[in-house]
Amino acid sequence: MRLSVEVLQRAYRRLRPLWFQMEPERAHHFNMALLKIVAPWIGAPVASPWLRRKVGGVAMVHPVGLAAGFDKNGRWVDVLARLGFAFIEVGAVTPRPQPGNPRPRMWRFSQHQALLNRMGFNNEGADAVLRHLEKQQRPIPVGVNIGKNKDTPHSRAAEDYAAVALRLAPAADFFTVNVSSPNTPGLRELQKGDFLTRILTTVQEALAGYAGRVPPLWLKISPDLSEKELEVIASVCVEAGVRAVVATNTTVHYGVVPVGGRSGGLSGAPLRGRAARVRKRLRALLPASVDVVASGGLMNPVDIVQALQGGSRAAEVFTGLVYYGPALVGHTLALLENALKEGRIEGAGNP
Ligand SMILES: Cc1cc2nc3c(=O)[nH]c(=O)nc-3n(C[C@H](O)[C@H](O)[C@H](O)COP(=O)(O)O)c2cc1C
Repeated sequence: MRLSVEVLQRAYRRLRPLWFQMEPERAHHFNMALLKIVAPWIGAPVASPWLRRKVGGVAMVHPVGLAAGFDKNGRWVDVLARLGFAFIEVGAVTPRPQPGNPRPRMWRFSQHQALLNRMGFNNEGADAVLRHLEKQQRPIPVGVNIGKNKDTPHSRAAEDYAAVALRLAPAADFFTVNVSSPNTPGLRELQKGDFLTRILTTVQEALAGYAGRVPPLWLKISPDLSEKELEVIASVCVEAGVRAVVATNTTVHYGVVPVGGRSGGLSGAPLRGRAARVRKRLRALLPASVDVVASGGLMNPVDIVQALQGGSRAAEVFTGLVYYGPALVGHTLALLENALKEGRIEGAGNP
């Protein structure tokens, strides 16, 4: 018996009020446990071959992936692939395991289709993530989102990033250097030119000594950067050989979302405009050889198609999956195929 994602979608939508009664982190683990049980029976959505492309140096069967933070430890790659994702970023992974911030550390704002999180890079550490990844089939490209341990000083941050990259190189199809989470104190400072250059070159140098195939490097940036900062980042990326920039991570500008006294990074619909503006600027600043990968406020198939039409080569979802449900990729592929037929997006360019 085959279970279509449509059946899952109907069940998810019906049960969503129940999930939304649960504390968000518990609901996430509960849902993943359920998905793991039904995964072998799910008939994953299939994409038209015309949607194939290379993104940031990695061959993808279509442009829709899962953003970092959903599978922090790389335990569920094979399961999440059943929902039709073309690629996944696992992590953020730090060299040593760390517990992250105390709970509660994630909140829903359903009326705003938003999440606020201050997870703080909770993960099992590079050795454990490598073990989890090596145990699985990995039917789709896996990017490892890398961070530094909370107690590593900025002066040694580059070494943390390089250590994770070198450890996980055998199981990674690409790496995303994450200097944009608002939940590790001072991390966003590392987006400044000198720090960033040092991190990217240290990672590249470490990987150059790796005996196997060297995974390409992506960078993930914040939506809260000034024009000047974006210009510096674009030129550092070109110099350091970064192949794609993921724009963007969560914002610390909460607007009308009533976060009360809580702090963290805001994701979902309220981030849509801010992230889209950063992508537009970045696309203009970067040469065509560096891809922009959209993240931030992509809540439904229309948002994703618009991001791709706006010049992003691929798109990653997170909060959209929570609010829309498991058919998000399948529905997006249907819309993309229409857009392709009508010439609104490019077909298999540089595959
Ligand atoms: C609970 C949670 C944890 C996250 N953890 C990470 C992370 O470890 N590394 C990272 O680069 N981004 C992380 N993110 C950011 C997402 O990958 C994504 O870039 C952001 O949520 C914006 O996209 P969205 O509006 O589609 O959710 C996290 C987001 C959430 C909600």
